[in-house]
Amino acid sequence: LLREGACVVLADIDETALAAANDELSKAYGKDFVRLVRVDVTSEDQVASGFAETAVEFGGVDILVSNAGLASSAPIEETTLALWNKNMDILSTGYFLVSREAFRLFRA
Ligand SMILES: NC(=O)c1ccc[n+]([C@@H]2O[C@H](COP(=O)([O-])OP(=O)(O)OC[C@H]3O[C@@H](n4cnc5c(N)ncnc54)[C@H](O)[C@@H]3O)[C@@H](O)[C@H]2O)c1
Repeated sequence: LLREGACVVLADIDETALAAANDELSKAYGKDFVRLVRVDVTSEDQVASGFAETAVEFGGVDILVSNAGLASSAPIEETTLALWNKNMDILSTGYFLVSREAFRLFRA
């Protein structure tokens, strides 16, 4: 699906998941195909540095797949404010921060 020479940068807060995905993709496509950056999408600084590392290594980004997330589920009367805020932090603020940084890089 990807043109020859394309690379994928995987960003996630979970280093174990990153390592597992790296093993799988490296075996399938070669070790130069994939790079890893540990990023918490709720952190403005970490999102910026993840894109900066990617730009230094590859000169930019062509496609962003923004899919960090969680699937919490509870009846509303049992949903704590902490769980609500966690959902908002990752699924709202996180998507904003990641998209904003990607647009800055796309324009540049
Ligand atoms: N898989 C589906 O069928 C499906 C359907 C509809 C919606 N969704 C939603 O899409 C999103 C992704 O789904 P998925 O199946 O890939 O889930 P997944 O759990 O396999 O992957 C989500 C990834 O996001 C990472 N993550 C969580 N918090 C993070 C943070 N703060 N910073 C960086 N990374 C973080 C997790 O470590 C995990 O690797 C979720 O929000 C899910 O609810 C999924």
